[in-house]
Amino acid sequence: HDFIWPIFVIDGPTEDIATMPYQQRLSYDDTLRAAEKACKLSIPALALFPQIATHLKNPTGDEALNENNIICQRVHAIKQRFPELMLWCDVALDPYTDHGHDGILDDDDIILNDETINLLCQQAITLADAGCDTIAPSDMMDGRIGVIRHALDAAGYHHTRIVSYSAKYASAFYGPFRDAVGSKSLLRGDKKTYQMNPANSNEALHEIALDLQEGADMVMIKPAMAYMDIIRRVKDEFAFPTIAYQVSGEYTMLLLAAKYGNIDETQLMLESLIGLKRAGADGILSYYAPILCQKL
Ligand code: PBG
Repeated sequence: HDFIWPIFVIDGPTEDIATMPYQQRLSYDDTLRAAEKACKLSIPALALFPQIATHLKNPTGDEALNENNIICQRVHAIKQRFPELMLWCDVALDPYTDHGHDGILDDDDIILNDETINLLCQQAITLADAGCDTIAPSDMMDGRIGVIRHALDAAGYHHTRIVSYSAKYASAFYGPFRDAVGSKSLLRGDKKTYQMNPANSNEALHEIALDLQEGADMVMIKPAMAYMDIIRRVKDEFAFPTIAYQVSGEYTMLLLAAKYGNIDETQLMLESLIGLKRAGADGILSYYAPILCQKL
């Protein structure tokens, strides 16, 4: 009941993701099958991530604001058939930009914080219009939670929740995800000017305090396993709904270790997830959610 299951969607037939064992980019029909499966397994929420065609990407990520983009279409379709299933959608431009960054850049490839926030507000409203329940800003721009909250309220979406990717570290563990959404080969430079330094733990608390002040309903720590001290500190300090994201690289690392190391896969995954609960996570995003629920 504490899982949020992240899925990848694509416009076209389902295809395997080479860097993530058992994971696929899902066609329209398979997206609905996944939603049905989530309901059957009592997984309360899905998080949707798109891979869009390269010709739809541009420097300002315009496709993110298209009310008929693949995420909006899938959200709409799932909500019609499975209204009880909660849908989480990322607010960030990286699947839509041709440079792979979460925001827009100036001529020197420096991220433009405030200009990006303006676009993120429009993206959040586009997603809420489509039926998304929980807006998940994963962009790490400064000050975006308050502005997005105001924009949602002004558009009448008082009940649309915000889960802030508050303590999101600049991590090598995102590698497979960037492959999955097709941003890896495009990415110019790195995300270290807006994602956090793995050596810094106090900053995570500062980021979370700000996001809560600005109106976040839940906060997220990401990646999870290498940051369990942060999860514990955040839970102890704020006693707020705290979400851990066991990211693509953690998932792949564990599955490959099981395969090559003669380790029991189910026990390994279960132990890793129980560890996150013990550290203080209320909810966990994990690609392993449906597999584990089925096995249990
Ligand atoms: C994009 C985003 C990322 C992830 C979720 N949203 C990658 C990134 O910031 O480059 C990573 C998830 C994963 O690795 O499973 N804003």
